[in-house]
Amino acid sequence: MLDAITTAELGRRWAYRASVEWGATHRFARLADRMAAAGCAPALVATAREATRQEHAHVELCAGLAARFGAAWRADEDPAPEVAPPGWSPHARVLYEVVAFCCVTETSNTALVADGLPAIDDRAIERAARRILADEVQHSRLGWQFLATHPLDAAQAALIAAHLPAMLRGAVRVDLFRPHAIVGDEAAMARHGSSPIAQRRAAFLAAMREVLLPGLAAAGVDGAAGAAFLDELAAHAA
Ligand SMILES: [Fe+2]
Ligand SMILES: [Fe+2]
Repeated sequence: MLDAITTAELGRRWAYRASVEWGATHRFARLADRMAAAGCAPALVATAREATRQEHAHVELCAGLAARFGAAWRADEDPAPEVAPPGWSPHARVLYEVVAFCCVTETSNTALVADGLPAIDDRAIERAARRILADEVQHSRLGWQFLATHPLDAAQAALIAAHLPAMLRGAVRVDLFRPHAIVGDEAAMARHGSSPIAQRRAAFLAAMREVLLPGLAAAGVDGAAGAAFLDELAAHAA
């Protein structure tokens, strides 16, 4: 049996996730259009369009779980604010968004969902998490495939390196790394698909340090500024 505070907190967390998934539907729709307009490989554009549909399914799954715990989710008024710096060329915008969204955010999503999966002991939530995980893996792979098929020149690599802290800031709720009052029973929430905060912090840092930075390094991007940002986050949490 879940206590009332834990139930409400689970509802809030699943509702928040539904709104994040909603943002992802818009980001992928915009990205697919921009990739097509910039002449990117049709197979990658098709993956981005498919991702839009998958993110809609994630909204449904997360909204359904929020409702189960008594919460309603709300669509953001501006679900996908522009992320690339103003004035960048269409191709540079695509590059920024692919790295920020697919390589950074979706790699983080994949790691967080995978990390929380073993603790889940609820059938419906496990099914939803597995579905979401399978899709997020593909979404992050889209980023890595893009970098493999559209190699960066030195100037592009330097731009990405310089903007890596901003991309990381966009992929994580920085407040989760600040001193934080925990609401609800963390063990019970983990069984219902929401890992303890310390575990989520560790999973995010590990994914970024062990998957993202080496992947970007292989594409020629210096990860020093990104690594420094992660060290700062870790220091806040400590
Ligand atoms: Fe998703
Ligand atoms: Fe995704």
